[in-house]
Amino acid sequence: MNWTDIEADLKKNLTPKRFRHTMNVVAAADKMARDFGCNLDQARLAALLHDCAKNLTDQQQLDYAQKHQIKIDRISHNDPQLLHGPVGAVLAKERYGIDDAAIQNAIDCHTTGCKNMNTLDKIIYLADYIEKDRSFPEVETIRQMAETDLDGATIMALTNCICHVAQTGALIHKRTIDARNDLIIKQK
Ligand SMILES: [Fe+2]
Ligand SMILES: [Fe+2]
Repeated sequence: MNWTDIEADLKKNLTPKRFRHTMNVVAAADKMARDFGCNLDQARLAALLHDCAKNLTDQQQLDYAQKHQIKIDRISHNDPQLLHGPVGAVLAKERYGIDDAAIQNAIDCHTTGCKNMNTLDKIIYLADYIEKDRSFPEVETIRQMAETDLDGATIMALTNCICHVAQTGALIHKRTIDARNDLIIKQK
């Protein structure tokens, strides 16, 4: 599918709020791709598709993951919406015909982060976190850091996510811890 067809399909399948969020993530990713020298087409397409599996129910996430040999770890089994990244990465190829491993990986890790995040992965993770409708207390600080320091902003977002998730009593995925530790070690 081309951009217009993908956008029309998402508009039809996502809730209006989720579609608006998606287009905000495209705008945020577009800006960061220009700022940090990332391929603009990849960044925009990964952003457009990052939540393409978000409309699936818990059971549909689990079924789709099982059918496509996506690993369902214990945390994801208990919180199946964590699978909408990995499921979305496969859906991007199967439904939307996007056969680009870099785009798929950025979609895969946009919710949890992962070890060895590249520039595109960081941009999509951050764009999802700081798009213009996000309004949690620390968002402005992270937005400001994302103007100049991609790694610093990503670490800040991962830290904030871990703290927030812990405070709400939800499960923290190991990939988020791995992502944060990896970036901090590499920064030293
Ligand atoms: Fe998402
Ligand atoms: Fe999102």
